[in-house]
Amino acid sequence: MPEVRLVNVSKKFGKIMAVDNVSLQIHDKEYFSILGPSGCGKTTLLRLIAGLIQPDDGEIYIGDRLVNNVPPEDRDIGFVFQTFALFPHMNAWENVTYGPRVKGFDMQKAERIGHEVLEMVKLHERLDAFPNELSGGMMQRIAVARALAAGAKLLLLDEPLGHLDAKVRNELRYEIRRMAKDLELTAIHVTHDQSEAMAISDRIAVMKKGKVLQVGTPQELYMNPQSIFVANFIGGANFLEGYIMETRDKNAVIELRGGLRVQALKKGIDRGERVVLAVKPETFIIERDRGKKKSENSVSGVIERVAFEGTNIRYEVRLENQDLVVVVTPSLACEWFNIGEKVILSFQPESAHLFVYPETGLREEMAVE
Ligand SMILES: Nc1ncnc2c1ncn2[C@@H]1O[C@H](COP(=O)(O)OP(=O)(O)O)[C@@H](O)[C@H]1O
Ligand SMILES: [Mg+2]
Repeated sequence: MPEVRLVNVSKKFGKIMAVDNVSLQIHDKEYFSILGPSGCGKTTLLRLIAGLIQPDDGEIYIGDRLVNNVPPEDRDIGFVFQTFALFPHMNAWENVTYGPRVKGFDMQKAERIGHEVLEMVKLHERLDAFPNELSGGMMQRIAVARALAAGAKLLLLDEPLGHLDAKVRNELRYEIRRMAKDLELTAIHVTHDQSEAMAISDRIAVMKKGKVLQVGTPQELYMNPQSIFVANFIGGANFLEGYIMETRDKNAVIELRGGLRVQALKKGIDRGERVVLAVKPETFIIERDRGKKKSENSVSGVIERVAFEGTNIRYEVRLENQDLVVVVTPSLACEWFNIGEKVILSFQPESAHLFVYPETGLREEMAVE
């Protein structure tokens, strides 16, 4: 039932276009994330859906109902904030049963729901505890329980894990998704953390400066970023500048600085164009330079820095044209290299992403503020 649809929605604060002509369709029972850097309009978008603020333009539908003029309390929404917005003078039990009680449910029903959701967030044994007696992770679990207890089918979460430390954050993100799925809720989860969004979402909308740049599954955003910003924001990439010298079938031959030539899928970009080639650190194949003839799509370089990260090894490699690229390889699967060693880097043309050089420059295009 709670599919959420935004049609050309805009919201301005003074001169700032906080949300700029956004259209989105979030499916029923979907776990959907809104991902983008700080200040890009994520909270504003969520508050518009909740009805806490009004759009200047556009329509917002929840289910089949146009809700532009529906007050927040009639939108049937559960809201979880970044800050632990529990009632400080109420214990966990009172916080959780607050919704059912103000909704006028009978005591028995309110209590049954209270027990169910506290079981679900695994805090049943702490029902007497006041917020200041609970850890951050526990408080946020209670906040989720309180939102669930109110019976809403649409759950809005604004950076719900932002104030927790890494380990708790990593566990709780899967728990929140599991609860939303178990209860068949539609969830809209706002975060600036790409790894969080990638790990838990059915689909993600990537935002920049009030606009939605791309919507897709985590895999689609990773495999097929449609802008330099998305390629950079999702997992990061090396950005190499060059010109298309010629095209061969599906591929473009790109001349990088210093005359290095590589190939990538041309994706409709023409000969002569100034381009940016995005190559993810993990798509490079790295080999020791044994002075053999180089394979087709490869460049040589020298290892300048090595960082052992546990699962992966991260190399910084100075290419022969002086560009610096980052290469990441799984620690157990690959040969290891030392600083100063000569290596050959290669990649499949289909695994790199080619973009027209942005008019505003590369740095501005990638800027997160
Ligand atoms: N109530 C407000 N008054 C004025 N400016 C606001 C208000 N709320 C948000 N903004 C501005 O709108 C932009 C988007 O803010 P916000 O939606 O909070 O971003 P995010 O949640 O992605 O960090 C920012 O530039 C912010 O400063
Ligand atoms: Mg925010």
